[in-house]
Amino acid sequence: MTGAPRHFLDLDRLGSDVLRDILDIGRAYKSAQRVDLPMEGRTLAMIFEKPSTRTRVSFEVAAHQLGGTALFMDDASSQLGRGETVSDTARVLSRYVDVIMLRTDDPRKLRDLAEHATVPVINGLTDSSHPCQLMADVMTFEEHRGDIAGRVVAWCGDGNNVAQSWIHAATRFGFELRVASPEALQPAPSVVDWARDQGARILVTDNPHAAVRGADCVVTDTWVSMGNHDATNRHNMLKPYQVNEDLMGEARADALFMHCLPAHRGEEVTDGVIDGPWSVVWDEAENRLHAQKGILAWCLA
Ligand code: CP
Ligand code: NVA
Repeated sequence: MTGAPRHFLDLDRLGSDVLRDILDIGRAYKSAQRVDLPMEGRTLAMIFEKPSTRTRVSFEVAAHQLGGTALFMDDASSQLGRGETVSDTARVLSRYVDVIMLRTDDPRKLRDLAEHATVPVINGLTDSSHPCQLMADVMTFEEHRGDIAGRVVAWCGDGNNVAQSWIHAATRFGFELRVASPEALQPAPSVVDWARDQGARILVTDNPHAAVRGADCVVTDTWVSMGNHDATNRHNMLKPYQVNEDLMGEARADALFMHCLPAHRGEEVTDGVIDGPWSVVWDEAENRLHAQKGILAWCLA
């Protein structure tokens, strides 16, 4: 590879045009308008320092369907678990593989990896963000309801990594985002301030009804993310933010319900909502595959 590698680190690091291009590529593969194999003879290394079902399988299948292969690494079975630094790992992997995906806790590890890798690096989730998820989420909304620009999305629950990527996405894709979280669990003020400076319409409130009223889409996520320890306290704080049939009834009549999954049924969402007429969560999960084909093809172009 010549020149600087094209990393996919966070939505705030890329422009709207690039993100739109990536979605277009993903959609073109999904509809079989595009059948080229940009991963032919190429390898994706996937480093997971946290568990995964969707991200692991969708990246592995995407690499395979784009003509390449994927390999899985984790702490337990690699030298990362014995203290080899991320930067040394980046230098070594860059000699073998063509693109590296990392799921980790501290976003500084992702930055280190990108700084020292000479191949593209993709953020497969950190404690701060989950940008691959948002590419699938925007793709899913638009498949069902058309352009997301100017629409209203309500987030109810923990102001976590996925919520922060929704804030980045609101800025890049031009929709209004209303985040309802208890005060102690609201998204980082630096992320909200950045988005507002960019001109995004972001409401942060502790009132789920104010967020959901008239929304085009209601989104939630687990109350206890990977790495969170204070589960009981979080359950108590987040109970009023459960997305149930009553709360969905306050959104627009044709509102969608989305969740990155895994869901904790009966906690952040009821069966009636996730299995109900609003829910597009299985399309959303499928679109991880298509959106990530867009990301891989863009990174390797
Ligand atoms: N939504 C998501 O990233 O799921 P996994 O943790 O299963 O990868
Ligand atoms: N917020 C969740 C997302 C899982 C895909 C977590 O970090 O565990």
